[in-house]
Amino acid sequence: MWLLSLAVMVAVATRYWAELSSLGRCALHAALRLCRGKACVRSTHAFVFVNCTHGKAQSVLETFDLYARAHPSLAIGREKGEYVEEVVRRVAPNQALELGTHCGYSSIRILRALPPSGRLLTVEKDLVTADAGEEIILVAGFKNTQFQVLTSPSVEAITHLHSHLGDKLVELVLMDHDVQQYLPDLMLLESRGLLATGCVLLANNVQLSGARSFLDYIRSQPGRYCINNLTQGLLELNWCP
Ligand SMILES: *[C@@H]1O[C@H](CO)[C@@H](O)[C@H](O)[C@H]1NC(C)=O
Repeated sequence: MWLLSLAVMVAVATRYWAELSSLGRCALHAALRLCRGKACVRSTHAFVFVNCTHGKAQSVLETFDLYARAHPSLAIGREKGEYVEEVVRRVAPNQALELGTHCGYSSIRILRALPPSGRLLTVEKDLVTADAGEEIILVAGFKNTQFQVLTSPSVEAITHLHSHLGDKLVELVLMDHDVQQYLPDLMLLESRGLLATGCVLLANNVQLSGARSFLDYIRSQPGRYCINNLTQGLLELNWCP
C-alpha cells in the first residue's frame, strides 16, 4: 500500500515536472520570439542610441549590457562577447563573417578586435534589424570601409559572397542566427570553397535542439573539424580539411 502510494506520487510528480518544464520552455521561447520581433529591435536600438556616448565602442557595449540587465535581449552578452573578442584577437582574420547581425553588439565586439587590415561582412535577413544594426555599428565609431551589412537570408548571402570577398577567403565565422540554418550554411560555405584552411568557426546557442544535426555533422568528421572549446552554448572549432 505504502509502495503503491509512493509510486503514484512519483508518477504525478514526474508528469507535473514535465509539464512545468515544458511551460518554462514555452515561456522562454515566447520571450525570445518577442525579442526577435521588430519591437525588441526598436527598443534596444533606441535605448543604446540615446544612452551611449557616440563614437565610443566601449560605451555602446556597456549600454547594451545595461539594457540586457532589465529587458529580454538576444545580444550575445558580455561574457560570451569578451570570449569572441579574445578569439578574434588570437586569429587576427583579414576577413570575418558574421551570420545574424541583430542590433550590432557582436559585430562591434568583432570589429574592435580585428587587425587594422581586417574586414567584417555581417549578414542579417530582416531589413529593419539590418538598418538598426548598421546604425549602431556606425555610432560605435566604425566605418563602412571596415564592415558591410548584407541584408538577405544567409543562404542567399553565402551564394553571392565571392563577389564581396574578392580573392580573400573567410578566416573567422560567427554563427548567431537561426540554429536550423547552421548546418546548411556551413555546408554551403564548404562547397563554395569560401573557408580558409584553419578557419575558426564560432557557433552560438548550440545547446538548442535545432542545432543537433549541425553538432552531429561536426562530430562525425573529427579529421576535418577540431572542437576547441564549448562554453555556455558557444562552440569554437577549427576547419582543417
Ligand atoms: C536611457 O536610459 C534610461 C535610464 O537607464 C532609461 O530610463 C531610458 O528609457 C533610456 N532611453 C531610451 C530611449 O530607451
